[in-house]
Amino acid sequence: MDDSTPLSNPKKLDRFIKRKGNPPPISALTAYDYPVARLLDEAGIEIILVGDSLGMMVFGHEDTTQVTVEMMIHHTKACRKAVRNAVLVADLPFHSYEIPHDAAATAQLLTEAGADAVKLEGGIEIIPQINAIIHSGIAVMGHIGMLPQRVREEGGYKKKGKTKSGAQRLLTDAAELDAAGVKVIVLENMVAELAGKITAAVSTPTIGIGAGPDCDGQILVINDLLGSYPWFCPGFAKSHANLASETSRAAREFIENLTEL
Ligand code: KIV
Repeated sequence: MDDSTPLSNPKKLDRFIKRKGNPPPISALTAYDYPVARLLDEAGIEIILVGDSLGMMVFGHEDTTQVTVEMMIHHTKACRKAVRNAVLVADLPFHSYEIPHDAAATAQLLTEAGADAVKLEGGIEIIPQINAIIHSGIAVMGHIGMLPQRVREEGGYKKKGKTKSGAQRLLTDAAELDAAGVKVIVLENMVAELAGKITAAVSTPTIGIGAGPDCDGQILVINDLLGSYPWFCPGFAKSHANLASETSRAAREFIENLTEL
């Protein structure tokens, strides 16, 4: 087995710019540990995101707001070892990019842990932070629409772009991220028609999650795809397996067969 760890490469996300508007759609999934990241990489997934959704999926927190930089570093290192072909992106956690200096410093730590790029949530209000990260030579994935790190502030996970002003704000946010030079933009939980409009308006590839089919790619939380977190799954996520019931079945079978071992 090859025990080397691939180096982080900030140029890796550039490959999707040429693909903008052309098939096949960009495939992206989250991963938080070595075996899952390796299986996804070997299956041909193009972007593997060490998402701060690990707050719920790995640590059992209610939302992503308690995720720390240390947690992100730890899981990024585990995934880095596994990912050889895909682009490895890591989330900047809540409160780790309040000011441009902090944004660049956190991004640097995640790059040292092996991320090829970092993702942060927000639009026009975080352009100074995005500029600081890009100036330090680190590639950025933007994230607009419903922002999980603001769930407490907003009192729940709400679909975005339903009002004229809300839709206009998201079009402006996307244009600002595009102009700032982010390499891809995640569009989360927004009206599908608006996601299509944003995708047509920007030169940056878009990756949708609960944003309809008219994006340049799609991303899902791995546990939603695998059906391995049965306590919560967003309505827009389509599971392709039911690992929760398989795990329970295997555990029960193990208990029943203990005397035969
Ligand atoms: O943390 C996460 O899982 C995300 C999603 C966009 C997949 O940010």
